[in-house]
Amino acid sequence: MAFWEWQETYSININKFDVHHQKLFTLINNLYASVFQCKDTCQKQVLIRKTLAELVDYTYYHFAQEEEFLLTYEYPDYMPHKEEHEQFKKHLTQLMEQYEDDTFVWSLPVLIFLKDWISLHVLNTDKQYGSYLNEKNVK
Ligand SMILES: [Fe+2]
Ligand SMILES: [Fe+2]
Repeated sequence: MAFWEWQETYSININKFDVHHQKLFTLINNLYASVFQCKDTCQKQVLIRKTLAELVDYTYYHFAQEEEFLLTYEYPDYMPHKEEHEQFKKHLTQLMEQYEDDTFVWSLPVLIFLKDWISLHVLNTDKQYGSYLNEKNVK
């Protein structure tokens, strides 16, 4: 069973970004699998580095795409939304720095933090722009 399963309740009813969010779920699951399910120590380091980089890169890409989209539609809560993205980017930068330190130990709470942050952001903050844009017939 995957660490994090996509459910309809996560849909924000904007097609493009539902696809993005599903991809973020997959990347979190990949990171989880490389940290906790890969038994080969040597392979594990390579996998973690790869899956973490993919997660960070895609998160940056997703946030940039979302921000551009919100600007295009003159979304009134653009600034607080962007600020939440900036906060998470700071967390990711810290995580990358800690990871580069040899003493860093992956733990379940680290993965749960990432999962919970994205999940709450989608359910609360992203859903708000979803409703706003649906009212303007954007899906
Ligand atoms: Fe967002
Ligand atoms: Fe999002």
